[in-house]
Amino acid sequence: MTETKPAVLVTRRMPSAVLDQLAPSCLVDLHPGTDDLPHEEVCARLRGKQGLICMFNDRIDAAAIAAGDSLRVIATVAVGFDNIDVVAAAARGIVVTNTPDILTGATAELTWALILSVTRRIGEADRAVRRGGWTGWTFDFMLGSELQGKRLGIVGAGRIGRAVAAVAPAFDMQVVFAAKPGADRDSVSDETVVSLDELLLTSDVVSLHLPLTETTRHVINRRTLARMKRSACLINTSRGPVVDEEALSWALEERLIAGAGLDVFEEEPRVHPGLLQRENVCLTPHIGSATRETRAAMAALAVRNVVEVLGGRPAVTPVHR
Ligand code: GLV
Repeated sequence: MTETKPAVLVTRRMPSAVLDQLAPSCLVDLHPGTDDLPHEEVCARLRGKQGLICMFNDRIDAAAIAAGDSLRVIATVAVGFDNIDVVAAAARGIVVTNTPDILTGATAELTWALILSVTRRIGEADRAVRRGGWTGWTFDFMLGSELQGKRLGIVGAGRIGRAVAAVAPAFDMQVVFAAKPGADRDSVSDETVVSLDELLLTSDVVSLHLPLTETTRHVINRRTLARMKRSACLINTSRGPVVDEEALSWALEERLIAGAGLDVFEEEPRVHPGLLQRENVCLTPHIGSATRETRAAMAALAVRNVVEVLGGRPAVTPVHR
């Protein structure tokens, strides 16, 4: 009797060399598009599948997990897994995996790109040149603010926050962290840890590196924005809903802060209209991990996780709740 291979749903196109790693041991049901698979279709196609490879923007809620009557592993091609109901998965004994570490460097690089873009007004300057708004060099055209000697406040002391901090000495910046007690906080020196309030009051750049949870949702809101220095900028490469965009738009309008660099948004791909119209806001389309090297490595790790679990072995990078 021939043994049937386990079936795996892959919700987005991925490098074929990576998908080839699945083929010897699994039957692949690939959504070849670049568009999101509607939730109902994810549910319908999960029936009878043992594995799922999904993206951070696929909603794998209790309904999807219930529809996946044969599911044994959910592998997200992302470090954040707020889109997956890990409690419902655990209740069914389904292993959930993510792709930590390998995207740390790429996301830290994008964070610095945003910090520099906002403080040196790169997007605004580029737009001015393109529309013919640069009519000759003048002494005080497009003046920005300097990083040297300033304070970088990192909210969240996880891998990405620490990687961003590691670059700060190159700019002669001082770093402080606000982080809740636990393993992440233990991995940074005590002298650098301050309360969120102190971080907001004293930092020139505030960069957010938090997972999205019920406690971190809207951690940046009208009250916390009002604590920031008027000359400071806010950077978010974590998850959009960590920031109340309506409040951020208000704070920028009221000049309570000097600018913002955002790679993530509350309702992607929608961006709050109050942010779209501002010159002092640099907007990127959720590209923190978007380098060829990192995306290929993320896809390969997700595939390995599926192959391992479906082969009866432990996952390489199971999520830790
Ligand atoms: C992307 O946003 C990720 O969580 O990896």
